[in-house]
Amino acid sequence: MYRDAGCAEVTEEDIGRKITLSGWVFRWRDHGGLVFIDLRDRTGIIQVVFSPDVSPEAHSTAHTLRSECVIRVHGEVRRRPPETENPDLKTGMIEVYVESIDLLSRADVLPFNIDEPKEVSEHLRLRYRYLDLRRPEMLRNLLTRHRVTKRIRDFLDARGFVEVETPMLTKSTPEGARDYLVPSRVNPGRFFALPQSPQLFKQILMCGGLERYFQIVKCFRDEDLRADRQPEFTQVDMEMSFVEVDDVINTIEDMLRDLFSGVLGKEVQTPFERLSYKDAMERFGTDKPDLRIGLELVEMEDLARQGSFKVFLNALESGGRVKGLCGKGLAGLSRKEIDLLTEEAQSYGAGGLAWIKVKDGFESPITKFFPEGVLREMASRLGAVSGDMMLFVADTEETTLDVLGRLRHSIGKRQGLVEEGFRFCWVVDYPLLEWDDEEGRFQAMHHPFTSPADEDTERMLSEEITDREGLASLRAKAYDIVLNGFEIGGGSIRIHRPEVQRKMFELLGITPEEAERKFGFLIDAFRFGAPPHGGIALGLDRLLMLMVGADSIRDVIAFPKTQKAVCMLSNAPSEVDPKQLRELHIKTDLPEEE
Ligand code: AMO
Ligand code: AMP
Repeated sequence: MYRDAGCAEVTEEDIGRKITLSGWVFRWRDHGGLVFIDLRDRTGIIQVVFSPDVSPEAHSTAHTLRSECVIRVHGEVRRRPPETENPDLKTGMIEVYVESIDLLSRADVLPFNIDEPKEVSEHLRLRYRYLDLRRPEMLRNLLTRHRVTKRIRDFLDARGFVEVETPMLTKSTPEGARDYLVPSRVNPGRFFALPQSPQLFKQILMCGGLERYFQIVKCFRDEDLRADRQPEFTQVDMEMSFVEVDDVINTIEDMLRDLFSGVLGKEVQTPFERLSYKDAMERFGTDKPDLRIGLELVEMEDLARQGSFKVFLNALESGGRVKGLCGKGLAGLSRKEIDLLTEEAQSYGAGGLAWIKVKDGFESPITKFFPEGVLREMASRLGAVSGDMMLFVADTEETTLDVLGRLRHSIGKRQGLVEEGFRFCWVVDYPLLEWDDEEGRFQAMHHPFTSPADEDTERMLSEEITDREGLASLRAKAYDIVLNGFEIGGGSIRIHRPEVQRKMFELLGITPEEAERKFGFLIDAFRFGAPPHGGIALGLDRLLMLMVGADSIRDVIAFPKTQKAVCMLSNAPSEVDPKQLRELHIKTDLPEEE
C-alpha cells in the first residue's frame, strides 16, 4: 500500500494516527538534528519530520535524499509546536513524524529548480515538461482545463447537443491558414489535410439531421505562431439547425455564464455588449477591443480642417483619416519619451505621431496651426484635461485606426488604466467580403460558408452589384466573441441555399470546378434538403488562458509547441526513415545547407 491519503488531505482530525503517505521531496531542511521535508503530491504539501529519536534509520536515509526523489513514509501525525505553525499551508498545523521510509525512485540533479520557474527559460521548461507540470501553477491550469471541458460537456448535453467526432484525416477546410498534410501510402501522390476546423463536417451533420452538434476538438493550422496561437489547438465547436444569430449568441452567453460561475465562482453579466464591426474599428481601432481600457479613438477630421497643419490636411486630401486619442497622464513626458512613443507609433506603421500637451494651456510645436477654440474642442472631445497629452495620427484609414488602436492598448496598460475583471463583447455586422490587395480579389471575411445578411442576400444574387464598393458593402451574419482584447470565438449563420453558395464562390473567384473539387460534398448535401443552420467555435486554449490569468496559451496546454512549431519534449517534427519516404513515393528537395 502506497498511501492512506493525499498529502494535503491529512487534517488535524488525524492527529495521533499512524499514516502512510507517498510523494515527491519538495523542500529539504536540516535543523538542529531534525530533517524537515515538504512532501508533495497532486493534492499539495505536508511537512514530514525525521528525528533520530523516532527512527535513526529513517533519519539517516533522509540525509541522502534530493529534491524530487519519490518516497513513501509511514509515521504519526502530530500537532506542530505553536511557533512552527504555518497558516499559509492547508496542512500548516500538523506534521508527520516518520518511523519508516522507502525510497521509491531517485532523482538526478534537476535541470532547473521547480520551485522558482520564473527564472527558467521556457525552452527548458518545455524540454522537461514533466518537471514543469509538477509546479502547482501548471497543475492548477490543467485541472481548470479539465473542469472547464467537463462543465461545457454537461451544459451542452443538458441543452440537447450531441458530441460527434469528425475525421482528422480529411480534406482542406478554408480557414485562412496553411494545411498540415498527411501523405496516403495506399493512394500514392495523394494527401489528407488535417482539419483547420470541422467546419464542413459540422454543416454536413446539420444536413444529416443532428440539429445540435458540438465537439471539443483539435484543429491544425500551419501559421505564424504567437503567444495566443498554436499549430494544434482546441476548439469548442458547435452547430445548430433552425437558428438565427441571437439563438447562437444566447446559447454561448448562457454557457459562459455557467462556466465562469461554476468553475471560477465569478458572476458575469449577460447579455454581453454588442458592437458593430464598424463601431469597434472606429472606437477602438480593432475588432477585438479590450473594453477594460476606458480610452476611445475620436474623430478629428472636421477640426483638422479648421487648422493649417499640412500633415493632417494632406492625409485628408488623399482620402485618409485624422483621429485622436487621449494620452491619460502623459503631459509630463520628456522630449525623449515622446520620441520613444513616436517610434512606437512608427513601428505600428504610422508616418509619425502628433501630440499636444494639455497643461495650463496647450503645448506643442503644432499648436500654432490651430485656433485656440479648435484646440479646446479637441481636448473636450478627447476628454483630455490638464496633465494629459492629446495624440493624433493622420494616415490612411487602415493605418490610422490600427496605430491608434495599438497605442490605446499600450498606453492603457502602461498608465494602469486596465480595469480588473472579465469584459466580454460581441462584434457583429461584419462585412461579408474583404478586399485582398495582394491577390487583387475578394476573400471571405470569415469563411465562404457564411451567410450574407437577409437584406443583402437578394442584392448579392442580383446582377446589380458587381463593383468593388457595392460588394464591400455586403454584410454577413457573422459574429466574433471577444474577451479582454482576445478573440475567443467566432461563427456565423451559414448559407444553406445552393444558389447563394454558388454565388459566394463566384464572388470569391472560386470556379465551379474548383468548388466541386474542394467542397463538392457539402454543396451536394445542400441539394437534398439542408436546414437553415449556424454555429460558432470557441478557442478553448485562449479562453482558458484568460480564465487562469496566464500570459500565453502554452501555459494551459500540457504539451505545447514552441514559436517555431517544435515539440521540445519529443523533438518533433523530425526526419524520417528513407524507407518510409520511399513507401510514400516522397522525395525531399531541400536547399543545400550553408
Ligand atoms: P475561427 O477560425 O475564428 O473559426 O476559429 C475559432 C476560434 O479558434 C481560436 N483559434 C486559435 N487558437 C489557438 N491557436 C490558433 N492557431 C487558433 N486559431 C483560431 C480563436 C478563434 O476565435 N469554423 C470556424 C467557426 C465557425 O464558423 O463556426 C472557425 O474555425 O479563439
Ligand atoms: P513633420 O512635418 O514631418 O516634421 O511632422 C511634424 C509633426 O507631425 C511631428 O511631430 C510628426 O511626428 C508628426 N507627424 C508626422 N506624420 C504624422 C502622421 N502621419 N500622423 C500624425 N502625426 C504625424
